[in-house]
Amino acid sequence: MLLEVIEAIRERVGKDYPVWCRLSAMEIGVEGGITLEETQVVAQLAEKASVDAIHVSAHLVGPGRRPPMAQPPGTFVPLAEGIKKVVSVPVIAVSRIPPELGESVLQEGKADFIAIGRGLLADPHMLEKVTSGREEDVAPCICCMTCLDSVTWRDEGIWCVVNAALGREREYELKSAEKPKKVIVVGGGPGGMEAARVASLRGHKVILFDDGDELGGQLLVASKPPFKETIDTFRQYMVGQVAKLGVELRLGERFTVDLLDELKPDAVVLATGVIPFVPQIPGIEGKQVLLVSEVLFGAETGERVVVIGGELVGCETAVYLLQQGKSVTIMMRGPELATNVNPLVRVPLIGRLKTKGASILTGVQYEEITEAGVTVRTETGERRTVEADTVVLAAGARPNTDLLTSVEGKVAQGLPVGDCVKPRGIREAVEEGYRAGLTL
Ligand SMILES: Cc1cc2nc3c(=O)[nH]c(=O)nc-3n(C[C@H](O)[C@H](O)[C@H](O)COP(=O)(O)O)c2cc1C
Repeated sequence: MLLEVIEAIRERVGKDYPVWCRLSAMEIGVEGGITLEETQVVAQLAEKASVDAIHVSAHLVGPGRRPPMAQPPGTFVPLAEGIKKVVSVPVIAVSRIPPELGESVLQEGKADFIAIGRGLLADPHMLEKVTSGREEDVAPCICCMTCLDSVTWRDEGIWCVVNAALGREREYELKSAEKPKKVIVVGGGPGGMEAARVASLRGHKVILFDDGDELGGQLLVASKPPFKETIDTFRQYMVGQVAKLGVELRLGERFTVDLLDELKPDAVVLATGVIPFVPQIPGIEGKQVLLVSEVLFGAETGERVVVIGGELVGCETAVYLLQQGKSVTIMMRGPELATNVNPLVRVPLIGRLKTKGASILTGVQYEEITEAGVTVRTETGERRTVEADTVVLAAGARPNTDLLTSVEGKVAQGLPVGDCVKPRGIREAVEEGYRAGLTL
């Protein structure tokens, strides 16, 4: 079929028009799947059938596969190299190849071209930044697969967590502000940092308050579970941009409404995030009950841990604890784990929970937490106590709206962004931060 397709295309476009084909060089994780050796034969046949280049990808499936964020850079380069050995037309390598690695792949003769997909969605100016020595200004792709998820399943147009303007370039074009304003941003999470970045780019004078010692907000904790390091790469990029743009940082300082009289801003962006939701279960105040953030920042847990809450945060925290050798039970009221999670991330995440031996109890009703553990009513109505030394709360969060009402009416423009509007994810925070920066 491939050869017939190549032949038919060639017939239509003529011999001077470039035609290349993309081959899945290997089906990783499929028993009896395509091997590199087979693809070498197919590549030679395609070359004979007149393709001008071969683009080498691969297929990753199976429950044991790594989540997309965990695919190390350049995983498929050896496959391109394997194809290059047997054909004389140029070979294109792909899949998480950042510029520096791409350069060495070319220098070492492993491939002739580098294809970059997600990296250019995150930052379409990547190449011009790299070639002018501004690597630190490249917005990094975090490999979260929101782009693919948005175009494949959501039908909402493409989204990128780190690039709010992707696919909305005209609407979101940054223009210098007509009149520079004094802007206070409260909260140094992704929404606050993005608002500060965009407002500064447009010429506003920005003061960013965060009561923590470090910028990042929930990015600081979100980057802690296994394979979430790219979130910290994004945080570092944002911190770098905010500093470079001359945003005045007031870290370790809690913003209060009294400061409005002193600072007299024209606008306040509120990016105050969330407060963890603590469900009303008898015994929840026990000292063996910890918040997810405490655990991910290094609080000690006992050997037997119950995680309350089975959405993304609960599941990733469970994987984090399982990696430390703890015995973990995840409990949730709903019928299924991680329902709000992109399937490309969800399948390997649940696969990991299962292969690492997590116990999963869905559809429970909580009765009480005691020193012995967590007592629930199971789906079948049975009363059961799951023994635990530590109980970790991953039961969601509620918006931190404390400042919202007190700032209202005291400043010309007040713009809430991100989780303090409604708890969601990094994408929404960044997008709303961008829009606030654009509106100012
Ligand atoms: C939004 C999106 C759509 C894609 N669509 C296709 C497709 O239709 N066919 C295909 O072979 N690969 C598709 N891919 C895979 C990319 O071609 C590429 O192999 C992959 O993104 C890995 O490279 P990267 O790390 O440079 O993004 C898509 C990827 C993304 C992110």
